[in-house]
Amino acid sequence: MRALFVVLKPLCFLALLGYCPSATIRPKEGWQVYSSAQDADGRCICTVVAPEQNLCSRDAKSRQLRQLLEKIQNMSQSIEVLNLRTQRDFQYVMKMESQMKGLRSKFRQIESNRRTLLTKNFQELKGKMNELQPLIPVLEQYKTDATLISQFKEEIRNLSHVLTAIQEEIGAYDYEELQQRVLGLEGRLRNCMNKLTCGKLMKITGPITVKTSGTRFGAWMTDPQASPKNKKVWYMDSYTNNKIVREYKSVSDFVAGVESRTYNLPFHWAGTNHVVYNGSLYYNKYQSNIIVRYSFESGRVMTQRALESAGFHNVYPYTWGGFSDIDLMADELGLWAIYATNQNAGNIVISQLDPLTIQVLNSWNTEYSKRNAGESFMICGTLYITNSHLTGAKVYYSYSTKTSTYEYMDIPIHNQYFHMSMLDYNARDRALYGWNNGHQVLFNVTLFHVIKTDDES
Ligand SMILES: *[C@@H]1O[C@H](CO)[C@@H](O)[C@H](O)[C@H]1NC(C)=O
Ligand SMILES: *[C@@H]1O[C@H](CO)[C@@H](O)[C@H](O)[C@H]1NC(C)=O
Ligand SMILES: *[C@@H]1O[C@H](CO)[C@@H](O)[C@H](O)[C@H]1NC(C)=O
Ligand SMILES: *[C@@H]1O[C@H](CO)[C@@H](O)[C@H](O)[C@H]1NC(C)=O
Repeated sequence: MRALFVVLKPLCFLALLGYCPSATIRPKEGWQVYSSAQDADGRCICTVVAPEQNLCSRDAKSRQLRQLLEKIQNMSQSIEVLNLRTQRDFQYVMKMESQMKGLRSKFRQIESNRRTLLTKNFQELKGKMNELQPLIPVLEQYKTDATLISQFKEEIRNLSHVLTAIQEEIGAYDYEELQQRVLGLEGRLRNCMNKLTCGKLMKITGPITVKTSGTRFGAWMTDPQASPKNKKVWYMDSYTNNKIVREYKSVSDFVAGVESRTYNLPFHWAGTNHVVYNGSLYYNKYQSNIIVRYSFESGRVMTQRALESAGFHNVYPYTWGGFSDIDLMADELGLWAIYATNQNAGNIVISQLDPLTIQVLNSWNTEYSKRNAGESFMICGTLYITNSHLTGAKVYYSYSTKTSTYEYMDIPIHNQYFHMSMLDYNARDRALYGWNNGHQVLFNVTLFHVIKTDDES
């Protein structure tokens, strides 16, 4: 009996059994696949039972098996990506853990010197310690997750060995169902990845200056929905009086200034808050609250629609002005518009948009004044708002669309060139793209996934 267990607790669990039954086998059964969405602990389970070896004839289905193998390979590539991201966060977590340990020992030291201390300092430290206390189990869980991912990786590798062996030994059986199940596993893996890679913003590092070009104000971006191979960069200099979009095949072409195409949009844009999503450019038409969807492939405007009640043309811009009233952005959950309305007293409204029709699917009213916001970006359905476009800017406020709650926070962002006119998250790269006073910059973000609070898949 071959047994493979894949555990990604508490998020996902799958088991694949290569089972060689006794002589009482009913040959027609072929592959047996049992699966259930969840076990009692909320983990996903899938069990695959292979037929007895040498019972079937070698038939024409080995091609399908090859595809299956390829799928497994693809899954293991996904694991690689997951692993890389996890490793990155893991380093941060480790650092945080050692800081906490330092704090703890300082605390103990101080406690043993209690008589000599100022009560106020002691209380402060104690407060800080208490704040950090709940993080300890999270850190521990995080370490477990990282281990589980590497196990997951190893087991996928094992599974593909087993499949290769089976292919050699028995040719093929009824692979259709098995293929379906592997597809199912792939879907679940994707869910697991989304959960693990989504999380709360903890830290922003960088920037790296990719290029110095253009005016003080502009936008540059890649398409988070594009396949990993597609690295096209789009570049839109200036916040007004322009409708030329420059396209580059890759970041290195962008740095070298080797353009692959230019697009002449039918309407001028306003501001710098455009987004490229799934092959289309979404932008705010000048002097209006109309959002335009322009398809790069067809070179045509596919849809335009007014964003009802949205202020425009410097009625509710970000702190720097520049007609930055309507900010379009995308994250793991889709396409969003950030703007302000009179009805919400000039405070920021978050709307999720249908990418095809640009219709508003759902809206949330925040209590943060748009005119007091430096920039904002969305990660995993949470909007993060900076308090300034100038030096000393920090992420100051966040609003979760999932829970409809806000939180004040204090995450510094290094505004290297003193003026930020664009800042947007790209979920594929897990980076923030910024336009920093005529410099095109990238920041890394560290996300911390919150465990146990999320039981949707
Ligand atoms: C595996 O991934 C490659 C590239 O992403 C894709 O072309 C191929 O169709 C995938 N194979 C399967 C079986 O999904
Ligand atoms: C994967 O296969 C190797 C070698 O057969 C084995 O030692 C290891 O325990 C397997 N890993 C898991 C997690 O099943
Ligand atoms: C992206 O576009 C393709 C067609 O071009 C469509 O099938 C797919 O659903 C779109 N994806 C999203 C997330 O909108
Ligand atoms: C982000 O992190 C990756 C991996 O550690 C690194 O290669 C890259 O240079 C970093 N980018 C920035 C903008 O800091």
